[in-house]
Order: sequence, then C-alpha cells, then structure tokens
Amino acid sequence: MDVMICPTAEDVGRRASARVAEAAWDVGPDVVLGVATGSSPLSTYRHLAQRVRAGELDLSHAWAFALDEYVGLPPGHAQSYASVIRLTVTDPLWLDPTRVFTPDGSADDLAAAAARYEEDIRRAGGIDVQVLGLGSNGHIGFNEPGSPLDSRTRLMRLTEQTRKDNSRFFGSLEEVPTYCLTQGLGTIREARRLVLVAHGTQKAAAVAALVEGPVTVECPASVLKLHPAVSVIVDESAASRLSGSRRRPANGTTAVPVA
Ligand code: GLP
Repeated sequence: MDVMICPTAEDVGRRASARVAEAAWDVGPDVVLGVATGSSPLSTYRHLAQRVRAGELDLSHAWAFALDEYVGLPPGHAQSYASVIRLTVTDPLWLDPTRVFTPDGSADDLAAAAARYEEDIRRAGGIDVQVLGLGSNGHIGFNEPGSPLDSRTRLMRLTEQTRKDNSRFFGSLEEVPTYCLTQGLGTIREARRLVLVAHGTQKAAAVAALVEGPVTVECPASVLKLHPAVSVIVDESAASRLSGSRRRPANGTTAVPVA
C-alpha cells in the first residue's frame, strides 16, 4: 500500500487523477472505471476533467460503475447517486452515458438488481481502477462496519452515523434514506487498482485505522491491505492521527511505504 500525504485537498485530487489517468493510458480506450460519490473525490474528477478538456485523456469509450446507490429515492432525485455521478463524473469527463452504471435502487427486487450489477461489471471485464472515498466510520462504498470482507453487491442498512454525515446533502436527517445497494468489499477487492482519497480531520481516525490498524470488519477500509495495488492519497489533516514515523512535516507530497 502506498500512502501519500499531500499539503492540500486540491493536491490530493491532482495526485489521484494522475493515478487514474495512468491506468486509463495503460488499459486503453475501453478502460473500466469505478467511481465513488461524496465530496472526497470531487477534486480528483475536476483534475481528470482538465486532462480530458486538454486532450490528454479520452474517456469517450470508457465504462464506469458507481459503488453504490440509495434505496427509495425517486428516479431523477438530485441526491440519487445516478444523478450525482452524472453531474460530477459523466458530464465533466465526457463519458458516454450509456456506458455509465449505478445499482438500481428503485428496483422491486433489490436482490436481483444487486446480482444484475455484479453481472454487468463482469461483462465489462471487471473494474480496472476504482476510486474510493472513506466514511468517517471507515466505510468504503456503503460497506458499514461489520461488513464481511468477501461481501458482494447487496442491500445494506446505513448506520445513523452515515445518515448524519450525509444529511448535509438533504433538507433534513429524516430525508436521508435508510437503505442502499452497495458493491461489497469482495467486489471492490476485485478491481485491479484502487485509489482511495480522503481529506479533513473528520477522516483522521479512519485513515489511521486503515493504514496502521489490523484488517478487521470493524474498519471496512482495512480490507485494502489485502490488495496488491492500492494508493491511499490524503491531505495533512486526514493524516494527522498517523504515528509520527509515518507523518512527515509536509513541504510537498510525502510518499510513505506501508508494510
Ligand atoms: C458516502 C459514499 C461513500 C463515500 C462517503 C464519504 O457514504 N457512499 O462512497 O466514500 O460518502 O463521503 P465524503 O467524501 O463526502 O466524506
């Protein structure tokens, strides 16, 4: 696992976009991207969009799969992840909307929708590079603490902490859905490369648990330690609870190898 500590959240996005672009260049035009919602990856998407507009990167034949989706929001709701991905990823990166997928959180049969999503990912050839944010409780996608390390796409109940964290996107806590469909930790681990981004002190405890703690279902992101190609890219605030030997005063980006 490579851990990079950057001076600012903007630098996190620049570094992470370089990782995603490298994967896209290596794989070719039909690269399969895994994309996350939340505020953490927004600067990554902005930097990727700059590369697309500058003609450095062509994602018009790429595929993209979102990590998760709320259950129970009407189709087209501004906070559905289908809408959020369209606004923050599909449009700015000039992706073909017919090649961008989110789990179907309004399906009558949610178990069947979850199985179909796994099948869609498989048919596209699997995810080449997965962008991940990090919940303050250590979740990735919507895999809350306790999620099995080999779990697949499935229905999950959100914790109150996650609903509170995400209530800033809704009018009130009551409006935040209670259930979601999320790729499982086993699904996420099958992506060929993983790029996790985090910034801000509210992520510091989760970053420390991920980087320095044991692999445990209590911190779902710790499963990344079992993956051979992971970049964890964080700003100084998110790195502030790493032990002194790992945390360096940052004049520029610090790359920290972690066993
Ligand atoms: C949601 C998403 C996660 C994301 C997390 C962090 O819960 N399902 O994929 O990582 O938010 O969000 P933020 O980056 O806004 O803190």
